[in-house]
Amino acid sequence: MKIAMLGSGFIARFYADTLHAQRRKDQLHLVYSRSAENAKRFAMDYGLSHYSTNLHEAINHEDTEVVVIALPNHQHEEAVLACAAAGKAVLCTKPLGRNAKEAKIMLHAVEKAGIFAGYLEDLCYTPKFLKTLKSISQGSLGKILWTKSREAHPGPHSDWFWDKELSGGGAIIDLGCHCVEIGRNFIGKHIKPVEVMCWADTQVHPIDAEDHAIGLVRYANGAIGQFEVSWTFRGGMDLRDEVMGTEGTAWLNSFLRTGFEMFTTGKGGGYVAEKAESDAGWLFPVGDEAHELGYPHMFTDMFEAIENRRAPLETFYDGYVVNAILDAAFKSASTKQWESVELEEWRGEQETEKLSGHQSYDDNHWLIKREILPNGDKKLIVKEKSTGKVSQVVEKEG
Ligand SMILES: NC(=O)c1ccc[n+]([C@@H]2O[C@H](COP(=O)([O-])OP(=O)(O)OC[C@H]3O[C@@H](n4cnc5c(N)ncnc54)[C@H](O)[C@@H]3O)[C@@H](O)[C@H]2O)c1
Repeated sequence: MKIAMLGSGFIARFYADTLHAQRRKDQLHLVYSRSAENAKRFAMDYGLSHYSTNLHEAINHEDTEVVVIALPNHQHEEAVLACAAAGKAVLCTKPLGRNAKEAKIMLHAVEKAGIFAGYLEDLCYTPKFLKTLKSISQGSLGKILWTKSREAHPGPHSDWFWDKELSGGGAIIDLGCHCVEIGRNFIGKHIKPVEVMCWADTQVHPIDAEDHAIGLVRYANGAIGQFEVSWTFRGGMDLRDEVMGTEGTAWLNSFLRTGFEMFTTGKGGGYVAEKAESDAGWLFPVGDEAHELGYPHMFTDMFEAIENRRAPLETFYDGYVVNAILDAAFKSASTKQWESVELEEWRGEQETEKLSGHQSYDDNHWLIKREILPNGDKKLIVKEKSTGKVSQVVEKEG
């Protein structure tokens, strides 16, 4: 397929590097950028036949089949609406909107136009994430009770991120969108996010938006999705997730210190890894950044979905739900109360049973805990179902 890239900045280059790597067949043919100089440089770097400084011209170009939106957050809506008007398939980077209102407008526009729309949430396509999701779907971790997703780094690389009007917020919108969607996937996208409690503050940078936040998203089945986001973290980019289920646990570290450590005096210098703060001393490079960050699996899913006329794993509807959860997080950070997730459109389960991990010991007792003690005895703690009385049974070794 022939792809038009909107934007020539940081993420546009990551996407282009991925799309033009490993002999992939879906290729960029055009780039749009506000400045002709940047557009030309990008076109030359990736061997593209066209470049443009006109957004609508790029989308409507007769050879453009798929549009990738890699523009600042405040530009997503205009670009998506232009794709819908042109009837071109669209892949939009995260966050979908600056808020749920914008995301909903985009969702409705693509659905009304009947075009393919994919939400480019790369961190829901990392190899470690996909493997964990498979284990969850096979039941290896049991019922998922609690998830934690953390993204923290020293702050983004362009002026517009730091302007609340243009970005829609600080670390919550920029990084929280990833963490919330990771938690949603692990807990189950069909389960409704109900309410959010969030602490946020501006601790370091002289900006109006928050540069540090922690939130809890409560789901209809009682599961909790915790997110931790920061633009104040020092030492690189920290991407870690945890899942706690009734039958198992998963810990994922996707970026810093993943088994590749290098020391250099600094001779040679240069790029180490995204958001790395140093190019001397002990360093934590990443072998194949695009792969560790999920870009190849993400684009494979998107283009296969287009070809096979199916929905991708991450849709505009997902982007809308994420924005609605983040809206509640912003509200909670200011009211310091649990705030409801306002989902005008909910497409998942209407009735959800509360999670329960209760196991029977026998007909009359619940099993609370089973443990082997240092002397080899087996100890069982049980609760009588009729009276609620808690007692213990010790099975002596031998
Ligand atoms: N992991 C990820 O998925 C990931 C990572 C980084 C950024 N992003 C997202 O990608 C988008 C772009 O971020 P970036 O890091 O590439 O930013 P960037 O500043 O590096 O690049 C933005 C591009 O848009 C252009 N641009 C800036 N203001 C514009 C305007 N008003 N109108 C038209 N073009 C304009 C810039 O010239 C540049 O080409 C954002 O939505 C961001 O959240 C996603």
